[in-house]
Amino acid sequence: MRLTDCHNFHDFRRLAKRRLPGPIFNYIDGAADDEVTYRRNTSSFESCDLLPSVLRGVSNVDMSVTVMGQRLAMPVYCSPTALQRLFHHEGERAVARAAGKFGTMFGVSSLGTVSLEEARRISGAPQVYQFYFHKDRGLNREMMARAKEAGVQVMMLTVDSITGGNRERDKRTGFSIPFRLNLAGIAQFAVKPGWALNFFTHEKFKLPQLDSHVDMGSGTMSISRYFTEMLDPAMNWDDVAEMVKTWGGQFCLKGIMTVEDAKRAIDIGCTGIVLSNHGGRQLDGSRSGFDQLAEIVDAVGDKIDVMIDGGVQRGTHVLKALSLGAKAVGLGRYYLFPLAGAGQAGVERALTLMQAELERGMKLMGCSSIDQLTRANVRFR
Ligand code: LAC
Repeated sequence: MRLTDCHNFHDFRRLAKRRLPGPIFNYIDGAADDEVTYRRNTSSFESCDLLPSVLRGVSNVDMSVTVMGQRLAMPVYCSPTALQRLFHHEGERAVARAAGKFGTMFGVSSLGTVSLEEARRISGAPQVYQFYFHKDRGLNREMMARAKEAGVQVMMLTVDSITGGNRERDKRTGFSIPFRLNLAGIAQFAVKPGWALNFFTHEKFKLPQLDSHVDMGSGTMSISRYFTEMLDPAMNWDDVAEMVKTWGGQFCLKGIMTVEDAKRAIDIGCTGIVLSNHGGRQLDGSRSGFDQLAEIVDAVGDKIDVMIDGGVQRGTHVLKALSLGAKAVGLGRYYLFPLAGAGQAGVERALTLMQAELERGMKLMGCSSIDQLTRANVRFR
């Protein structure tokens, strides 16, 4: 299967599955408990239909949006995700460069495998820092200062991961960083020599955002242990209010799901919220960001930038969210599978397809700019 055979999310997922050892594919593909929320994220878009307008002169379509103070050429951005170098040796570099080419935003995670400074140097795209709040307050302060110094534009604190989600696929394979696989897991690596060659002939796996404090690169720590042992479950609104003040710039909370919490985010000075359930990887049974979007936009949409992520596989999913009032939409697995399958070229192909779907969709909807997409363009079943 070649990259040019990939025409949508499902093709990229298949490509990634062929190339990645099972434990890594399942780490990306998997979610919490029974993965109900993971499935709901995509199916929620199907309970809402588009209503096009016609004959409105759409030869020129402007897809740009301004979100979190950043001008983006298209209304989707690459959400920060962890451990990208495990998926392809170019890791975050591939995503940073591809986002730059498409004029959109990308993120580097606290659990990123390329330093946020390097990502800032190699890409002209606005950069988000996906922040985890650690028990060690010194580490938190140091991480924020580093990001400020590097010129990161947007702080994005994840608030849906106060403890690790129950990822049963990872338990079955023994997925951890680096690998402490069980026998079944080892067998799955042995059958993917291409991945192993790529992984072992490139730079050593590192976690540069955390390396001054955590020996996770050479020790063995599973994602769930990182959440449980290093992150602070005591984190509360006062802690975050202090962070917002210290940062003194664009600050958003990723994982807000209720109107009440959206209002509190405004009260403590946040400039954005992402309605998200972490790709279904944390609280299974949670609603999708899209399910909650209209209600939250109605309550706070004029005071704070509302974004969503989760389950986005098509340009039309994005158009539905924009019609309900989202300022921009985050992509996760949508770019991770092509990254795993083909590095930067894969991410670029995925963004090319998304861009084309968005443009085609806007034309078919009779819209030549994003602000023309309104509630009149959607109807729930
Ligand atoms: C995950 C974290 C690390 O979902 O973002 O695996």
